[in-house]
Formats: sequence, structure tokens, C-alpha cells
Amino acid sequence: MLLEIKDLNVSYKTVNGVASILEDFQLQMQEGQIVSIVGESGSGKSTLGQAVTKLLPMSGIAEGQILLNGTNIVKLREDQMTEQRGTEVFMIFQNPLNSLNPVKRVGSQLIEAINIRNTRKKENLTEELMYEEAVETLKIMRLPDPDEIMKRYPHELSGGQVQRVVISMAIILKPKLLIADEPTTALDVTIQAQVINLLKQLNREYKMSIIFITHDLSLAYVLSDRIIVMYAGRIVESNPSESLIKSPLHPYTDGLLKSVPTDYKTSGTLFSISGSPPSFFDMPVGCRFNLRCPKVFEKCREEEPKLRGRTDGSSVRCWLYE
Ligand SMILES: Nc1ncnc2c1ncn2[C@@H]1O[C@H](COP(=O)(O)OP(=O)(O)OP(=O)(O)O)[C@@H](O)[C@H]1O
Ligand SMILES: [Mg+2]
Repeated sequence: MLLEIKDLNVSYKTVNGVASILEDFQLQMQEGQIVSIVGESGSGKSTLGQAVTKLLPMSGIAEGQILLNGTNIVKLREDQMTEQRGTEVFMIFQNPLNSLNPVKRVGSQLIEAINIRNTRKKENLTEELMYEEAVETLKIMRLPDPDEIMKRYPHELSGGQVQRVVISMAIILKPKLLIADEPTTALDVTIQAQVINLLKQLNREYKMSIIFITHDLSLAYVLSDRIIVMYAGRIVESNPSESLIKSPLHPYTDGLLKSVPTDYKTSGTLFSISGSPPSFFDMPVGCRFNLRCPKVFEKCREEEPKLRGRTDGSSVRCWLYE
């Protein structure tokens, strides 16, 4: 098992007290698997990615087990975690500028990444070969004028270019586990498609496992083996992609699917789930989705359901299935 997350809770210390964000998060990932995490803004997707790379802000507290190749990274010291970052696990941040050092040129950062891999995997590459590889990788990402880009600082690039430089880092490092947090949001559709294909290729060729964080259910569907749907810090459904799209279990997943703009053409209006997600400081009693759920009944307002595994490999957190 490459990654096993057991009973993970993450909270943030804030001026209003401690906000418990992720609770009871569970995930099992085999080598070579692609899992997408979908859910509305604020549901805790980036928090999860940051917990798995141990890059939560100072105010973030993780409890539970995140076993990466059997090592619980929740318990690791920073210097031990540094050894894991890059080649074991690498994260493409939602704001890609966060993945780069603002005061170093793009070229030297790419070469540094090649050097890390070179040292850890004992490849003995010369400096010339490393430079060539950096340029070639930028070319794969279709960055214009890669020799020129190598000389620039991150702030001298457009948002989409920065995002492609960070994806180049992932291509270079070939981590066992890549966490890609909305990696295509700043990219236009043609480059987006190319990035998705590239992720698939890295997955096929290097058995790279990927946690793909996205708002976009259709992207999640084309890319991943399994989709995990989050709502207000909870997993509400985890299902193989095909079944999730064809026969969603949770009413929230159903609502998300209906909101995908393919219905727009046929009906003329876009479906949207009514209401908005609750505040982490004022969660409804019972199921966190109960205020917006079209299938709500009494029990849902009394007690929160547990995430239950089902015989077909799916899990769902909903009283309809108890
Ligand atoms: N440093 C922090 N301190 C306090 N609360 C935070 C912090 N970072 C995130 N949060 C809160 O945690 C919750 C989850 O945030 P997170 O960034 O994980 O959501 P997300 O699902 O990635 O959203 P989006 O789709 O908008 O990127 C939100 O309510 C957010 O306000
Ligand atoms: Mg996010």
C-alpha cells in the first residue's frame, strides 16, 4: 500500500477558536492509482493535500495516521520529511507560485530538482545534461522560448506559465505520489487537455500515483480510478469513477453531477444545489448536508451518519443507506 490515511483530523487555530476542518478522513491508495478529490470551495481539499505533504500552515494541526509507504508522516520531524519530499511525494499547489522560490531563477530551480533526483537515484548526470533536461521538460510543457524562461524569476511569468513550470518539476522529480491541487485552473482548455494526458502518461510509464484535486467532475472522471466527494470537511462518498458517474450514492454527489454544464444545452438552465455550505463554526446538527438535501428526513437532523464501506468497494456517509 502506497498511502493509507486512517482517522485523519485536521484543524486550524484561528482568532475565533479552533476550527475542526477534516474529521474522520480515510483513504487507501495502491501504487499506480489515481484518486480525485472533488467538492465545493472550502470543503477541505487543499487542507488534505497539505496534510499529506506535511505543508500545513503553522496554525494547522493534523492528528491520526498518514502512512506513506508505512511511515506515519504525521509523526515525522521536519528534517525527516524533507527527505521524503520531491521524490516520494510532491505537491503542485493551487497557487503555483507557492511551489516556487520567488528569489531564484526558474532554471536554477529546475536544475535543483534534477539534482535532488540525481543524488537520490544515483544517476550521475553532468551539469550539461541537467541543463538540457530542464530545457527539454519546459518544451514538453510547450513553454515558448525555454532558454529565455530558464533565466526568468517566477514573478516574470504569467500564471499559466508558472503552473507549467511547476508541472515540469513534477515531470522531473517523478514522485511516487503526486498531489496536484487544481493544477489546470490557470490554463486554457487545449493546454488543460495536454496536462491531463501528460498526468495519465506519467501514471502509466512510472506507475506514479496521483491525488488530483479539482472542482471539475468531468476532469476527475476522465483521469481517475476513484473519486472521493467531500462536503464540509467530510468524505460523503468514495466510489470507482465509473460507478460514481453512472449511479451516484449520496444526494450531494447527485447534485454535483446535475450541476455539470452538459444539462445546460438540453434544459436551457443550469441546475444548482440550493443554499450554500455551512460555516465550520456553525455546523448543523446531524448530517452536514441536511439543510440542502432534497432527500432529508428526521434522522438526518438528529445524528451524523458514519462513512460506511459497501460490498462493491464504494463507501457513503448517508442515512439512506443504513
Ligand atoms: N490557514 C487557515 N486558517 C484557518 N482556516 C483555514 C486555513 N486554511 C483553510 N482554512 C479553512 O479550512 C476550510 C477548508 O479550506 P481548503 O482550502 O482546504 O478548501 P478547498 O476545498 O481547497 O477550497 P477551494 O476549492 O476553494 O480551494 C475553509 O473553511 C477555509 O476557510
Ligand atoms: Mg483548495
